[in-house]
Amino acid sequence: MRLGIIGAGYVGLTTGICLASLEHEVYIFDMNKDKIEKIKDKKLPFYEKGLQEILENVISSRDLIPENNLDNLVKQTDGCFICVGTPTKNNSIDLTQITSSIKSIVESIKQNSKKDYKIIIRSTIVPNTSKNVILPILEQSLSDLGFGLAVVPEFLREGSALDDFMNPDKIVIGSMNHETESFVKEVFDHFQNECEFIETNLESSELIKYTNNAFFSMLISFSNEIANVSETISGVDPYQVLKALVSDKRITTKIDNKKITPSLDSYLIPGCGFGGSCFPKDVQALLDYANNNNISTPLLKAILEINSERPNKMILLAESILGTLKNKKISILGLTFKPDTDDLRSSPALDAIRLLIKKDVKISVFDPIIKSKIKLKELPEQCNVCFSIEDVLTDSDIALVFTKWKEFKLLNSDFLKKFMKNPVIIDGRGFLNSEKFDPGSLFRIGRS
Ligand code: UGA
Repeated sequence: MRLGIIGAGYVGLTTGICLASLEHEVYIFDMNKDKIEKIKDKKLPFYEKGLQEILENVISSRDLIPENNLDNLVKQTDGCFICVGTPTKNNSIDLTQITSSIKSIVESIKQNSKKDYKIIIRSTIVPNTSKNVILPILEQSLSDLGFGLAVVPEFLREGSALDDFMNPDKIVIGSMNHETESFVKEVFDHFQNECEFIETNLESSELIKYTNNAFFSMLISFSNEIANVSETISGVDPYQVLKALVSDKRITTKIDNKKITPSLDSYLIPGCGFGGSCFPKDVQALLDYANNNNISTPLLKAILEINSERPNKMILLAESILGTLKNKKISILGLTFKPDTDDLRSSPALDAIRLLIKKDVKISVFDPIIKSKIKLKELPEQCNVCFSIEDVLTDSDIALVFTKWKEFKLLNSDFLKKFMKNPVIIDGRGFLNSEKFDPGSLFRIGRS
């Protein structure tokens, strides 16, 4: 099929590359001409495991065609995915990019007299956005030519986006009519026998996406709330408490006497909190939707409140260990919001650094994926950026781990002693092996 992608960000480019590798002819447009040039040069503008190689292939084979001209994209295709950003502005979802891209496409559709062009929303939009915002624009301008509208959310995790796209557990297709649904099913035909197709209306599809992200962020905040309780009870380890929960047979099932634990158990670990461009933004947008519609959602509110306290929890623990942080050298290990990505958006490490700066400390930072300071525009200038674990630990009074990078798994007390003034480390992700550390040198939040 000949398809368009509007927006060559993380979602759009991943979707475009993957669809092109499934033998569709995909045109990709972005307002940012530099980005399109980069893609033409076969350079992925962000890091995502495995994607660079496929980008090279699909550009060489001309299955993915970077395009600066929207009219041309519409002319060449029968439908397009809208993959523009839906950021948060004043605690509400900002739909500016959605409305402006829809308006531009409408103009191109009219320009090309394209009949029944299909518009597929891949961006995350709050319930009723299709009905109240997008459909009226399309109806007003395209009633003569006809059109189709669908909401087909993505469920890609940064760091495993390629695998998530190629091995989906579901494809959710919310559409305005049967014809549009059939069009989208054909796009994803490759997966027909491999995963569940959930065919529904536009509004349900919008809500399914939020429900997914709210659920997983709720698990993280739930774990952190249990950790808050456990830290007041002497001798309780919240990691053990949550592990016991996971072994409940309603979570961990037994098949042929073999225990099967779903990977949601990794969201049931207390720590420094969730970040990224999705969980915080999407829970906030759903909460705002509820507030605007007079729906009481104390649980959604609590997810964010609990999470916003987590970076400070790391600092409070450091203070309880060292007495005061004043003039101490603090090492920050991991800046990205999770491993296998170079994404710093809503990173708990950056939140903690902003709080630490007010405490008159010396801060050194290191992240295995950050190879140059250019990427670190958001980082306060007071931070000393290091490019090795050895450097970041040198002469340090305490190390705080914010990202579950595999590189940090190698840490142990002997290593810390070689470089640190005081070989003490706080594991904000609960993944370091306590057996490798001397008693009193590895700390986790939530333990009394
Ligand atoms: C999230 C969802 O998981 C995807 O299904 C969704 O498509 C995406 O948002 C989106 O809306 O576009 P992502 O933000 O990449 O994907 O990351 P996750 O791996 O779910 O991590 C989110 C946060 O939870 C991170 O801060 C991470 O450190 C934390 N996390 C993640 C955990 O605490 N434990 C985990 O096991 C995984």
